[in-house]
Amino acid sequence: MRKQIAAANWKMNLTLEQGETLIDEILSSPLNVNEDKLAVFAVPFPYLINVKNKLAVKKNVFAAAQNCYNKKSGAYTGEVSAEMLKSIGLQYVVLGHSERREYFNESNAMLAEKVNICFENGLQPIFCCGEPLSIREAGTQNSYVETQLKESLFHLTADQLKGFVIAYEPIWAIGTGKTASSDQAQEMHAHIRSVLAAQYGNAVADSISILYGGSVKAANAKEIFGKPDVDGGLVGGASLVAAEFTTIINSLK
Ligand code: 13P
Repeated sequence: MRKQIAAANWKMNLTLEQGETLIDEILSSPLNVNEDKLAVFAVPFPYLINVKNKLAVKKNVFAAAQNCYNKKSGAYTGEVSAEMLKSIGLQYVVLGHSERREYFNESNAMLAEKVNICFENGLQPIFCCGEPLSIREAGTQNSYVETQLKESLFHLTADQLKGFVIAYEPIWAIGTGKTASSDQAQEMHAHIRSVLAAQYGNAVADSISILYGGSVKAANAKEIFGKPDVDGGLVGGASLVAAEFTTIINSLK
């Protein structure tokens, strides 16, 4: 069975103290996690070691970085390499979030390089894709997302993509309170899985966790995660509130 994942994306929020309090509150609640149901916390770089150490008391919960650079090492002031993340024992890295694509001009080609460098360092990307409102309104979201996947992932081998993690985040639903309906999410997730199946076969496509992101909250998580091709969520705003994110974790199927 493919993994179901509730991933928090704190983005550029919280002080260290606030973040640690949040983690403590979540860890002190009953969490329905196991080898097939994971909770992941993508936190700002300066907090990664602290958060990772805090999470170590519990199995099946992991820290993740929100990004890494597409070069191995060298004179890139202010950047963080995949090797650095590996050296602190991380397993997961969010790549290609729409905010990185928009504000930092991350292209599909650059993301292909980031994916490669993550694999070279044994890191599992949580690869984000998703269309802006104009594309949704034009009705061309399927081919838009397909291109994102093809240009950043389809150079990988079937072995590399086995158990991979993708997050579909329609940009019009991020931080807007406007969630895609569970049917809209299912429709795109099924499309993504069919594109993967056409290229890599059903076994690989079925092993890939496809998370939904965009205004997921405690009140809608169960319905969205209940759809057959939705394998959990990547959560922004609601992941900053302990009770919200705890309920979201416990809504995984
Ligand atoms: P919100 O949950 O705040 O809409 O953010 C979604 C997101 O961008 C997660 O990566």
